[in-house]
Amino acid sequence: MKRLKITHKVFLSLMMLITSINYSQSEKIGSLYDLGENLVKVAKSGNPDKIVDLIEPEIDIDKKAEILESFLQIKESMFNITDVSKMGLFNVIKQGEYTYLIMKNDKKFFVLKSKTNENNKLIDHLALINTQVTDALLKGSKIYKMRCYSCHGKDGKGMIAPNLTDNYWKYVNSEEELENVIKNGKKGTMMIPYKDYLTPEELKAVILYTKALQGKKVENAKKPEGEKKDISFHLVTQ
Ligand code: HEC
Repeated sequence: MKRLKITHKVFLSLMMLITSINYSQSEKIGSLYDLGENLVKVAKSGNPDKIVDLIEPEIDIDKKAEILESFLQIKESMFNITDVSKMGLFNVIKQGEYTYLIMKNDKKFFVLKSKTNENNKLIDHLALINTQVTDALLKGSKIYKMRCYSCHGKDGKGMIAPNLTDNYWKYVNSEEELENVIKNGKKGTMMIPYKDYLTPEELKAVILYTKALQGKKVENAKKPEGEKKDISFHLVTQ
């Protein structure tokens, strides 16, 4: 990718960064979700220097500059592709040592990858995940609306069928079983085998989208059903 001419901006931001360190340290430690929401806010604002508040204050200044620069590059790429002002946070998912921030507007998904520490602050540069994943998420969200929404509700909040955002499951004990339920259904229930109705590619997309719903904050969520199981779903293969 073309290296952006942001040296001047980075310099200015570094100056702000030095002055903001004390402020950041006294700030309340937020959740990973808050980090995601704040990152979206900063991406949409004309004030990218605010990213500094989201970075772990303890890490060295070179790393901070690297994070800031990566963020500015991502912001620029996103602006070239879509209307960032309409972006919202879809979900934040932690997978191994990486944190994935899923952002979306009505036309696009973006997935930002970074590392965060126990204080839910950024400690590494940000990167955009390849479009294969984001295109599949968009496709999956469309299939979800047509095929799953009527029973599982908006964003998987649950209606006559179970909530797909919480970590309580009736049938699912592993990533493979999630795929299995969606492909083969559950005999004797309203959950039909979607392998009979969707192409393998469509199945893959809707399965990926279902995984991305895990832990999502939704309003009026249906109360948990089944047992509490913390299953780690993979959005990307690392
Ligand atoms: C006609 C209603 C209906 C539709 C449409 C539907 N489901 Fe379901 N689904 C159910 C019901 C009901 C259950 C729970 C069955 C039970 O309680 O025994 C279920 C269960 C599931 C489960 C297992 C949940 C658990 O707790 O183990 C997953 C995952 C799931 N559905 C995903 C999907 C996806 C993805 C789609 C769209 C491709 C979809 N469902 C479409 C009714 C539906």
